[in-house]
Amino acid sequence: MKKNLLLLLVTFLLLPAVVKAQNYAGSQACAMCHSTAHTDWKKSGHPYKIQKIENALPPTYPSGLSSQKTVGPEVSYLLVPGVPQPPKGYTWSQIGWVMGGYHSNARFIDTAGYVIWGDSAQFNLPTNKWVTYTQSAPGRTPYTYSCYKCHTTGASPTKTPAFDPYPGIEGSWAEAGVGCEGCHGPSSAHTTNPSNKPPKEGYNTCNNCHARDRGTSYAWNNLVEWLPATISGQATGFIRHREQGDMMLASKHHNAGMTCATCHAPHKGVYFELGGLKASGSCQNCHPNKEIQGHGLDKAECVDCHMPFAARNAVGLTKYVSEQSTHFWKILASPIDMKANLDTTVASGKFFIKRDANNMSGLTLDYTCLQCHVSQSVSWAAQYAVNIHQNGINSIYANTEIPTAYTLSQNFPNPFNPSTTIKFAIAKASNVKLNVYSVSGELVNTLINGELNAGWHDVKFDGSNLASGVYIYRIIAPEFNYSKKMVLTK
Ligand code: HEC
Ligand code: HEC
Ligand code: HEC
Ligand code: HEC
Ligand code: HEC
Ligand code: HEC
Ligand code: HEC
Ligand code: HEC
Repeated sequence: MKKNLLLLLVTFLLLPAVVKAQNYAGSQACAMCHSTAHTDWKKSGHPYKIQKIENALPPTYPSGLSSQKTVGPEVSYLLVPGVPQPPKGYTWSQIGWVMGGYHSNARFIDTAGYVIWGDSAQFNLPTNKWVTYTQSAPGRTPYTYSCYKCHTTGASPTKTPAFDPYPGIEGSWAEAGVGCEGCHGPSSAHTTNPSNKPPKEGYNTCNNCHARDRGTSYAWNNLVEWLPATISGQATGFIRHREQGDMMLASKHHNAGMTCATCHAPHKGVYFELGGLKASGSCQNCHPNKEIQGHGLDKAECVDCHMPFAARNAVGLTKYVSEQSTHFWKILASPIDMKANLDTTVASGKFFIKRDANNMSGLTLDYTCLQCHVSQSVSWAAQYAVNIHQNGINSIYANTEIPTAYTLSQNFPNPFNPSTTIKFAIAKASNVKLNVYSVSGELVNTLINGELNAGWHDVKFDGSNLASGVYIYRIIAPEFNYSKKMVLTK
């Protein structure tokens, strides 16, 4: 009896320690009880951070994903996950792992675990081009913990025997890619007994990976790094990628107690419109009545102005447009450009976005407005930007018969079933085409193809014989080429 009591006591004392030291079970082990979370996660970018190449077969990505990315009049490209071939000079049998390839770019690790760098060692998805990665001469470098700690689950600088065949990898991981336990922590004991809760609250973990680890010299915080003019021949710069957490720390949204998961459904992606943004986290949900008279959300949505693509992972697409959105939300309405908004006193040779007295930052009008108003200046934008929501913009064409500018309005109603109206304005008589495409870029219908007079026009689109989904309509005129999305919901 006494012995049993002692045993019980020992078990009790040990139990919390056992729970704490859960091992990694792997995402597959979660699928049988959390099938929805697993299916959603499988389609998002997180699992594809790094993939092992098996049997000389190319890496795989969820099928059927594609998204037409349109920003202002100059940027429009079809984004599809995938890597067409291994880097120059390699076959798939010589590749051990592929990093990324889901939305921005792909880099490669050879079968010994070394990162491949040099000429044409990186594939950029938005432009479909092979570019130089790091050094100009071909070479390889160890895949260190400092890299893979964010790209794998259960990363450790300690090497396990399983990693002995890969001298280039200076440690180990439990699962390639960001698995369930990359956010929830090691949960093996939970899989055998669900009452052992996973150790981490997923929403506190985002910044482990989505913020810069600046080491001890200047620990990560609300500093946001800016890549200046000369990098990769960009005329101006962009925010370094994976600084969403740093940006948010420099925003009122963080101060108001919001987290990434206030807006993001963490199991779902955003790049391919997989429902990764929660309705309760939409801008209008918390900021109703933020219309701008005369500009209209048909010309720019909240995120176009407040979260422009000013952060760069692989490639800058125009002077002001890269691939990733900013997470400051604040717009500095004064007539200064980003060069005037940089702080070079933090660390030598580095550029950071200035912070105000409350350590808050924001984006200047060049990146906010000139992405679309490409021939305008910051001082032009500033005239309209100050108090824009209170004052509005008096539209120069709203009251005139003959518009002085080309416009493509949001279809109405939207979402629609089965038909909707698309309104547009052309400034001079010209040959105009209005096409409808599927999200994968396939031409579905040509609604207009011919000479039209200057003025406002509208056309009805009937989707009776089409499947539910997102469609893109594009107007093509000699001086205007613009597209918008519409949603058919049956
Ligand atoms: C044998 C079935 C089973 C397996 C396998 C399983 N879970 Fe669970 N999980 C549950 C149940 C049951 C709950 C409790 C649901 C509830 O209380 O609403 C739960 C709850 C959770 C929660 C919410 C915890 C909380 O604090 O409320 C998370 C997160 C979670 N599981 C993650 C995982 C992960 C990650 C894996 C894989 C490593 C996994 N689960 C594997 C059954 C399972
Ligand atoms: C990118 C980080 C991340 C990954 C990866 C992740 N989760 Fe979660 N998970 C969260 C967060 C954050 C929440 C809290 C829910 C919320 O705020 O919407 C959550 C909630 C949950 C819950 C409880 C509530 C619910 O939505 O059912 C379960 C169960 C769960 N996750 C299981 C999983 C499983 C299984 C996987 C892998 C297939 C996984 N998670 C992958 C971040 C993550
Ligand atoms: C602090 C965490 C962290 C570290 C360290 C890190 N990454 Fe990343 N990486 C990310 C995040 C987060 C993203 C995606 C989000 C973003 O770019 O903002 C990303 C994106 C990528 C992508 C593009 C993925 C795609 O599907 O397009 C590649 C390739 C990549 N990283 C390679 C590397 C290499 C090589 C290293 C080491 C030199 C490295 N990363 C170090 C967090 C990290
Ligand atoms: C106020 C809502 C909101 C919050 C809070 C938020 N996001 Fe986002 N996030 C968005 C929206 C909206 C997009 C899509 C923007 C677009 O496509 O124009 C997005 C896009 C992204 C992307 C895709 C790449 C990119 O930059 O376009 C990543 C990665 C991301 N967010 C990570 C995070 C992380 C990490 C946090 C927390 C530090 C966070 N987000 C907080 C709304 C939010
Ligand atoms: C272990 C590191 C890690 C953690 C933790 C993490 N992420 Fe990520 N996240 C990444 C990397 C790396 C990528 C780039 C993956 C890719 O798209 O190829 C990424 C991509 C994303 C994307 C874009 C992918 C898509 O499918 O649209 C979003 C949105 C995102 N993360 C949000 C979050 C949120 C929200 C959290 C916290 C709940 C979080 N992440 C936690 C590493 C992480
Ligand atoms: C969950 C509610 C919530 C959501 C969702 C939300 N906001 Fe906010 N927002 C707030 C709060 C709270 C503040 C801070 C108000 C204050 O402190 O005065 C704020 C502040 C702001 C500010 C002022 C920033 C500054 O520094 O002056 C802007 C701009 C903003 N939000 C834009 C957006 C946009 C754009 C979206 C959608 C991508 C969005 N918000 C989504 C709650 C929200
Ligand atoms: C055409 C660009 C543009 C669009 C579209 C836009 N905003 Fe703004 N917004 C601005 C500018 C510029 C400021 C800064 C004005 C100032 O400082 O005087 C601002 C300021 C704000 C602020 C902080 C100041 C305030 O008035 O409370 C919030 C919150 C905000 N916007 C939310 C939104 C929401 C929500 C949407 C979508 C419904 C939206 N904005 C659409 C340009 C835009
Ligand atoms: C997503 C693209 C987009 C963004 C971002 C955007 N606009 Fe516009 N804006 C338009 C379109 C489209 C029109 C309609 C007429 C045109 O210029 O072709 C327009 C019209 C205008 C007009 C009236 C027409 C004119 O040219 O005088 C003003 C003023 C204006 N925008 C100011 C701004 C300011 C200020 C910002 C930044 C705070 C901004 N816009 C951001 C797309 C955008």
